[in-house]
Amino acid sequence: MTSLNIVILAAGKGTRMYSARPKVLHALAGKPLLAHVLAAAVALAPRQVCVVYGHGGEAVPQAMSGYAAQFVLQEPQLGTGHAVQQALPHLPDEGRTLVLYGDVPLIQHATLHQMQQAGEGLVLLTVHMANPAGYGRIVRDPNGDVLAIVEEKDATPEQREITEVNTGILLAPTARLRAWLTGLRNHNAQGEYYLTDIVAMAVADGVPVHAAHPAHAWEVEGVNSKTQLAQLERTWQHEVATRLLAQGVTLADPARLDVRGTLSCGQDVEIDVGCVFEGEVELGDRVQVGPYTVLKNMRVGAGTRIEAYSHLADAEIGADCRIGPFARIRPGSMLEGGVHIGNFVEVKNSRIAEGSKANHLAYVGDASVGRSVNIGAGAITANYDGANKHRTEIGDAASVGANCVLVAPVVVGEGATIGAGSVVTRQAPAGELTVARARAVTIPGWKRPRKAPK
Ligand code: UD1
Ligand code: CA
Repeated sequence: MTSLNIVILAAGKGTRMYSARPKVLHALAGKPLLAHVLAAAVALAPRQVCVVYGHGGEAVPQAMSGYAAQFVLQEPQLGTGHAVQQALPHLPDEGRTLVLYGDVPLIQHATLHQMQQAGEGLVLLTVHMANPAGYGRIVRDPNGDVLAIVEEKDATPEQREITEVNTGILLAPTARLRAWLTGLRNHNAQGEYYLTDIVAMAVADGVPVHAAHPAHAWEVEGVNSKTQLAQLERTWQHEVATRLLAQGVTLADPARLDVRGTLSCGQDVEIDVGCVFEGEVELGDRVQVGPYTVLKNMRVGAGTRIEAYSHLADAEIGADCRIGPFARIRPGSMLEGGVHIGNFVEVKNSRIAEGSKANHLAYVGDASVGRSVNIGAGAITANYDGANKHRTEIGDAASVGANCVLVAPVVVGEGATIGAGSVVTRQAPAGELTVARARAVTIPGWKRPRKAPK
């Protein structure tokens, strides 16, 4: 197989987005449009990826610095042919060059692979559209061989009737491409250097021109406005939901699911409406996710139930846990099996061992909690002294009463009991009851204040 280089066009202005942010940095499924295209490009294992940027300046290369790509500035922007010209000095003559668009985010690997298999010569990616307005038309001869692409603004009324259109994505032998681009002229309705003019040049040179087609129409849909962005987002989410349903996941409503990353599910997983999954989320068998729950970079063990309105990020939860409603699990938390975290409970950077419970209104931060511990309503770890964070250790089977403050660093021994309302600053010895609060006093004859007479 010949070597492959990829050029991604991303210099356009995106006027109709009405945004200060460059168009290709707007997000679809939680990730910039250009990042989707770069991921598709990298998956083809090319020798080199070259991103042509312009509008928005350095914001584009800065946002994409995590990708192994070369960034080439196109200034001014004189058309798609001119854009590819900027990249070519950075590419070797041998092999082929694939041109992708930074604002056509959902192009799939299978389609690009199929283009590579379509034959030597020039390969265009085309589609038939009921309403082809605005697109370049594919002009064929009576034998059906491709002759040229003509832009809408340069087309004759007859050519405008053609419904086969240019998606813009193409694959060309690099040495040929270089020669054709050198010959481009901007004598057309828009005064631009059209990449599409290379098709007629290929035909004149006797280079075969093939047309490949995407597996789905949405793969080649571009984003020019917030409306199109929102529509393409729904199209993609529908696709993701369809795949999950096909795998046996129960979705209360496939139209009310947002996956912004990768969601992998075991058997018999149930997801209620309005849930958002970000980054990498793994749900074990029989996990149930209640409505309006957000999970980001989470691993959730089999049989765990997450109730409505919970927010969980960068943490791991074991099997058969009960979380929420209204629970917050923050980064660095690790919950073992059978843990219960109830309403308005926040857990941060803590390990909670098997069978422990914090059912109401508690904060567990920077703590190691043993097995079968009960943390009462309103109990908190005071982990921050204003300058540094300190750890709290709670032994197995300890019981922390309601409204306790555990002032870290502090150790609660195994089986210790802490009386409600205690402020514990040092140690609570194992097996003993520790109470740290003023004894109740009753003041005889005390009267409530009265309103002073006017
Ligand atoms: C282009 C095609 C048209 C095709 C359509 C598909 C040409 C001449 N026409 O038209 O046949 O049907 O795409 O959407 O190629 N860009 C640059 N630098 C430039 C100009 C454009 O990087 O100087 C980038 C844009 O950011 C965009 C892409 O190239 O991502 C396409 O540019 P656009 O102006 O949208 O081309 P169209 O006129 O839509
Ligand atoms: Ca366009």
